[in-house]
Amino acid sequence: MTQPDSGQYGHLLEHEYDGIAEYDNPTPGWWHTIFLGSVLFSVFYFFFFTFSPMALTEEEQHAEAQRREFQKLFAEIGELEADQATILSLMGDPQWMPVAEGVFATNCVSCHGSMGQGLVGPNLTDDYFKNLTEITQIAEVIQNGAASGAMPAWGNRLHPNEIVLLAAYVADMRGRTIPPGTRTRDPEGEVIPPWPPVPDSVSGE
Ligand code: HEC
Repeated sequence: MTQPDSGQYGHLLEHEYDGIAEYDNPTPGWWHTIFLGSVLFSVFYFFFFTFSPMALTEEEQHAEAQRREFQKLFAEIGELEADQATILSLMGDPQWMPVAEGVFATNCVSCHGSMGQGLVGPNLTDDYFKNLTEITQIAEVIQNGAASGAMPAWGNRLHPNEIVLLAAYVADMRGRTIPPGTRTRDPEGEVIPPWPPVPDSVSGE
């Protein structure tokens, strides 16, 4: 053997084949600690995320954050009535329609398209409607769904205020111009009368 038995490479092991010997370089203690620590952590992690009610998925965390956010927002307006005056007064509201737009983007665009142009569900920008003739019925359709669940019921998934805000947002979509070529569905239902004018007492506020 020509190598020193100890020094910067550690000490040589006993065995040697064809003149090749091996230094004994065990992994250091800190490395074992990290390794064992991560194995133990993985057991904890597995059981925590599989069984603990405290472990939220990203989706649940998002829903929870949104719920808190809406609670804060809705403390300002209280309980909205799903009546004609309220819906009319919220149409185009600069504070609340962006909120409704967010709710629509999260829950409705998958079926109604990002501009309401229709996809799986009908176009909401034209004058043709299948399930409603009055503005308050928009809230009812959102609340209860339509066509045996093809349009899902949102009553137990959204805050009552969100439904009123969505009704105003959808009412406001009517007459919106959508770029040519984005229309994928033919008009559905009947042409319904225009929404009533915004009452003075409300618009004057
Ligand atoms: C899973 C797909 C789907 C989702 C998600 C969905 N809708 Fe619908 N929606 C439909 C379908 C399909 C119809 C048409 C039902 C029918 O044939 O009568 C419809 C109808 C409607 C109508 C009535 C239109 C009419 O012509 O009578 C409104 C208003 C409406 N949806 C609003 C919404 C809003 C607001 C949301 C989000 C909270 C939403 N929808 C989410 C599929 C969906």
